[in-house]
Amino acid sequence: MQNKIVLVTGATSGIGFQTALALANMGAQVIITGRSHSSGESAVAEIKAASGNSKVDLLTGDLSAQANVRSLAGQFKARYERLDVLINNAGLAASERKLTVDGIESNFAVNVVTPFLLTHLLMDSLKASTSPRVITLMGGDVPAKLDMDNLQTERSFDGLNSYSQSKLAMMVLMYEFAQREKDVTINVCYPGQASTNMTRSVTPEMLPGFMRFIFPLFKFMVRDDDGKSAAKASRSSVYLASSPEVKGVTGKYFDTNCKEAAWSFAVTDAAVRSTLWKFVEQAAFHK
Ligand SMILES: NC(=O)c1ccc[n+]([C@@H]2O[C@H](COP(=O)([O-])OP(=O)(O)OC[C@H]3O[C@@H](n4cnc5c(N)ncnc54)[C@H](OP(=O)(O)O)[C@@H]3O)[C@@H](O)[C@H]2O)c1
Repeated sequence: MQNKIVLVTGATSGIGFQTALALANMGAQVIITGRSHSSGESAVAEIKAASGNSKVDLLTGDLSAQANVRSLAGQFKARYERLDVLINNAGLAASERKLTVDGIESNFAVNVVTPFLLTHLLMDSLKASTSPRVITLMGGDVPAKLDMDNLQTERSFDGLNSYSQSKLAMMVLMYEFAQREKDVTINVCYPGQASTNMTRSVTPEMLPGFMRFIFPLFKFMVRDDDGKSAAKASRSSVYLASSPEVKGVTGKYFDTNCKEAAWSFAVTDAAVRSTLWKFVEQAAFHK
């Protein structure tokens, strides 16, 4: 990864941090993003110290607000001549329904509109690379169907099910993006379950009814392990960002073991893709 410029969103902790560290270890120039300047600067210092790579920078911004996504993309373009790899890692599993400053439900904003918007805004920088790659992280189980009448949980909010719906919407969009954009490879990966701020913040109310009974077991499974499971979960992002095996491979989904897996019909359904694309384009660009 020498001479490669990589942007990892949401890399102040968890899987994003471990992804940035692994890529810095490989010699890449890594730019991480986070909401807070102080936690971002400590992550940068930690990655530099652990990797011995000084080419690690920070861009800050709460990516739930579109103005901040635009500002962050503008700052990136002003500072870096190109982008070789974009990793849309920042994600949100909201515990309740909230709207962002743009009036968009927060899971849908952070997990769907933000990666769509950021990837569009950085397309020129990506196309300046000889082998540009975009990688986006999906959530847990893929729902059987995207609930088009409840995309922003306006009819009902259902904890982690709503998070999974937003991640499915993101997969639909990235699959469609890969069909439309042939100069940049666009893939999705599943990291696997890891102990991170996200999983440790899950409350019993966010789990589906039957799983609430086994909440203590869930808590045990996601107990703090000093980044060990997050490092394991970073493997698929790191693989897609760096492996020569996936050069030119696009529109695919990779599992936690870096193996290509089949998309479900919920992702490839052409009618859903077209409707969702128009909807998110409108939300991101107010067309
Ligand atoms: N952990 C799992 O078991 C698991 C399983 C499947 C998929 N994933 C996916 O993996 C990705 C990383 O998650 P994680 O588990 O590593 O979670 P995490 O430790 O909570 O990290 C999430 C990162 O996203 C950032 N972020 C969250 N909301 C943001 C916002 N509004 N604006 C900007 N940055 C924001 C956080 O930054 P701050 O420092 O500012 O909070 C943090 O750096 C997510 O896309 C998640 O959906 C995780």
